Amino acid sequence: MNSNPIGVFDSGVGGLSVLRHLVRLLPNEEYIYLGDTARVPYGNKSEETIIEYTEQAVRFLLQKGAKLIVIACNTASALALKQAELLSPVPVIGMIIPASHAAVRLTQNGKIGVIGTRATMNSNAYPTTIQHLSEKTLIVFSNPCPLFVPLAEEGFHNHPAAQLIASEYLAGFHTTNVDTLVMGCTHYPLLTSLIAHELPEVRLIDCGEYAAIEAERLLNYDRNEPMIHQYSSPQITFFLTDTTTTFLEIAERFLGFSVSLPERISLEHFGNTGNSI
Ligand code: DGL
Repeated sequence: MNSNPIGVFDSGVGGLSVLRHLVRLLPNEEYIYLGDTARVPYGNKSEETIIEYTEQAVRFLLQKGAKLIVIACNTASALALKQAELLSPVPVIGMIIPASHAAVRLTQNGKIGVIGTRATMNSNAYPTTIQHLSEKTLIVFSNPCPLFVPLAEEGFHNHPAAQLIASEYLAGFHTTNVDTLVMGCTHYPLLTSLIAHELPEVRLIDCGEYAAIEAERLLNYDRNEPMIHQYSSPQITFFLTDTTTTFLEIAERFLGFSVSLPERISLEHFGNTGNSI
């Protein structure tokens, strides 16, 4: 037993789609959710900046006593997982490896599509990981879909504008014959119906679902002693680097239940030389 919290980090609110799966699979835990809402989006930032921000977030979550850190952001996972692992004495789970495992297992025809932010797509993290995990040669087709992030935050999953953008972004997949598509950005599961409408024959992978399965396995079976806890209900504290009036509404949409007010914090002091708020 370990009563310390699970730290969940995203560039903003997208990681709430991962938190939803974590809470479903591990309902008796305490969670600390950190959203870097002041500096979102990460998806169009440089590798150096994404690494720096991710390291700050990891230091913050460690200072809060996290027993496990989930990087609930594909962009940060693609570019800064190694750095996060080096910094952390506790296990770190990113989005890319669990989702890639799922894609390799689920594809029937060996043709896999991946969508995500520009930074995630440019990193090649998905094609590299997918190929690394498979003995067969698989073909991976990728396309960045940056406008999906604000559409998800605006709740535009049924909006005609979103349908237009989805057809534009996803049209290229029709000729590829992919049978599996990784939604490689934690915002995209909110647009599942929109994406499924465009690619009805394709199996969609929600990376949060597989990251949560990995977290559950790790806490229950990976150590000599299980690291789970048994609160009667999930305890969640939200920390944001900027608080907006829409957070509560967005959080409810992502999580499916209402949440407590977030606390505003600054991550700038969690650079290399300092570690206090
Ligand atoms: N949550 C990010 C991801 O999963 C998308 C938003 C951003 O660009 O920061 O890649």
